[in-house]
Amino acid sequence: MKIAIAKEVDSAEPRVAATPDTVKKFKALGIDVAIEPGAGIKSGMLDADYEAMGAVVSADAVKDADIVIKVKRPEAGELATYKKGALVIAIMDPYGNDAALKAMADAGVSAFAMELMPRITRAQVMDVLSSQANLAGYRAVVEAAEAFGRAFPMMMTAAGTVPAAKVFVMGVGVAGLQAIATARRLGAVVTATDVRPATKEQVESLGAKFLAVEDEEFKNAQTAGGYAKEMSKEYQAKQAALTAEHIKKQDIVITTALIPGRPAPKLVSADMVASMKPGSVLVDLAVERGGNVEGARAGEIAEVNGVKIVGFTNLAGKVAASASSLYARNLLSFIETLYDKAAKSLAVKWDDELVKATALTKDGAIIHPNFQPKA
Ligand code: NAI
Repeated sequence: MKIAIAKEVDSAEPRVAATPDTVKKFKALGIDVAIEPGAGIKSGMLDADYEAMGAVVSADAVKDADIVIKVKRPEAGELATYKKGALVIAIMDPYGNDAALKAMADAGVSAFAMELMPRITRAQVMDVLSSQANLAGYRAVVEAAEAFGRAFPMMMTAAGTVPAAKVFVMGVGVAGLQAIATARRLGAVVTATDVRPATKEQVESLGAKFLAVEDEEFKNAQTAGGYAKEMSKEYQAKQAALTAEHIKKQDIVITTALIPGRPAPKLVSADMVASMKPGSVLVDLAVERGGNVEGARAGEIAEVNGVKIVGFTNLAGKVAASASSLYARNLLSFIETLYDKAAKSLAVKWDDELVKATALTKDGAIIHPNFQPKA
């Protein structure tokens, strides 16, 4: 069996799907590994490092590969180079990308979307949403600190006192929790909000203060899957009134709020941005899904009356070496479930819940129930 590590064609994607360490582990399982030249360079991993662990560096790496691993979904030009029947495993961004899914089906590959991995105990080590969101949450605070013209920690010096920065985190999932922890480590005074009651204790355990409209709707805002529901207009109005007063007094606002399969909730209006002091910074991690902050622009820093709105995308990619190493481990763990160690061959169990949840295409068709072409 042969695995190929493809180099990302998107020049804005610095991550890579394998590290020398995961190559070593694949080799130990008896799997051949080939890698496209320069695939790891933007994550600080050299061809020679992969070679030293037994990978073959070749421009033809994907040809004949049984499994191709990538960070992003392959484009048409890439698909044309893959073997029919090959498994292609990546972060597929499948929602709203019907044509791209059809292209993968037409190419005859079996495509797997890592971000659809169920959040069950057995699959925790394959949870790419968590591994990448955690780093994005960390990086959001680093970006905020970079854009902010003041220090985060309180400093008492002979020349006077610098006050601690006030940071407000909106949305306390994986990214938000890491943002809270990072801002606390830098010495900020941190508050946070979410609509799921379970987050209150998590926020407090990180030494931050929780702020939310805790009414009946709030008590039922978490779905069985652990995600947030879309809140009613009435709740949103109460939430906005509460947070508007709070945001006025903040130096930094970091937003991470998402609802699966829906556009990101609008949490910070233009009026709220206008109420902040010049020099304040907002970082909108939800910008790729429509944004939590009015006026946020993907890939840019927008400036409104001296307030900066950071809308960078792919924040995990800005910590590429760490992000690649965690993603590579997520992939290794998943691939181990698709492999028969004794027979040293591919052995996909198509009725396994991890496979059923992530498999998008097979034998020329889109097989995932959530992405069936509309008649
Ligand atoms: P996410 O990325 O879907 O959303 C981020 C946060 O935004 C969530 O906490 C959500 O409640 C919040 N949010 C949504 N609408 C909001 C609004 N109107 N106002 C304020 N906040 C709002 O969430 P993520 O990070 O994927 O985590 C979702 C859940 O999955 C959590 O319960 C987490 O603990 C759980 N989880 C479970 C894992 C496992 O069991 N293996 C692994 C990772 C996460």
